[in-house]
Amino acid sequence: MKYRAFLLGIVLFTASVEAHKPITSKYNYNDDVFPIFNERCGRCHVAGGVAPMSLLTYKDALPWAESIRIELTAAHMPPWYAETGFGDLKTSHRLSPRELDVILTWATGGTPEGASKRLPAVRIKNDWRMGKPDLLIPMPSPFTLGPGQMEDTKEFVLQTATVDRWVRAVDLLPGAPAMVRDASLHIRSVGLLAYWLPGDEPVAPPAGAAFKWPAGSELVLRIHYRKTWTYEEKTLTDRSTVGLYLLDRPPAQEIRPMWIGPSFTLIRDVRALALGFEGGQPDKSMRIEAVSPNGTRTPLISLLGRPDWTRRYWFARPVALAHGTRIEVTGVSPDRVWLDVLE
Ligand code: HEC
Repeated sequence: MKYRAFLLGIVLFTASVEAHKPITSKYNYNDDVFPIFNERCGRCHVAGGVAPMSLLTYKDALPWAESIRIELTAAHMPPWYAETGFGDLKTSHRLSPRELDVILTWATGGTPEGASKRLPAVRIKNDWRMGKPDLLIPMPSPFTLGPGQMEDTKEFVLQTATVDRWVRAVDLLPGAPAMVRDASLHIRSVGLLAYWLPGDEPVAPPAGAAFKWPAGSELVLRIHYRKTWTYEEKTLTDRSTVGLYLLDRPPAQEIRPMWIGPSFTLIRDVRALALGFEGGQPDKSMRIEAVSPNGTRTPLISLLGRPDWTRRYWFARPVALAHGTRIEVTGVSPDRVWLDVLE
């Protein structure tokens, strides 16, 4: 706590020095920067959100100008580590070159506020992004992080299916958004159903495709709790709710994982919808390419290495991969990557 307060002191001090810097930025907070922060950072950097500070008022954002420059230049924020992906990945959180330019120009050019105007007071958005789910399953019991407890990972057994269920999409509503850093939903002995990150929109696969939650198997929620230093001395209690979007009859196609080693050749034609990693995204960069029998290379994804913020990456449209295609993974150990394919 003291250390953080000390750091904050330095940041505030730096900010007051920066305030005397001549204003060279043609962009100002009120007109140019706020709309981008609100759209691109505000789902986390909002009062009560998972990030350590709000960026949604001038006063809140100002002390972080230098830190913002560092994090954005290093491509650490917003958390999204795909450099490229097949057909442009869905739900990309990558900043556009213009957004990046506006923020960096402002952060390094004297951080002007702009003519005074009333900005909307933004409150944390904690709602079902795809509308009300078909099945709501709250955690069986609350979980608390007390003063000084910063981080923990917990598993909650939610429910056992009595009949086969067909899951189109998954969302989660955190009970205490300030400590639910990320989550994943697993079907015991089957595999991963979904990852969840703050503010992510759930992705629905193409019509007629769904994941199977077989009768008799348990649905397990794993939550990674992490407080930011603003809550270090506080008690936070979470009881999150999982929301499932279901089909009421078996789909035309089931989505299944296909595990990929470092060099892997398909023995039939498949259509791949997404890819993911077991046990966290590796901390070194990684590239996955499909090499067809005639040698044509299709880049599937290229990721910057960041061990945090694991997610499933959905291709913008299904990728058809012919029998005999080799999947080449470079820069990561085997057995940790899968493709979600239609069966
Ligand atoms: C998905 C949630 C999320 C989004 C979106 C996000 N951040 Fe963050 N940010 C975090 C979290 C959480 C941290 C704390 C460090 C960590 O846990 O990785 C953080 C840390 C930071 C820091 C460093 C703070 C420190 O303690 O030094 C800066 C600066 C920052 N974010 C800026 C931004 C900007 C600018 C954007 C938008 C362009 C953005 N972030 C988008 C979650 C997010």
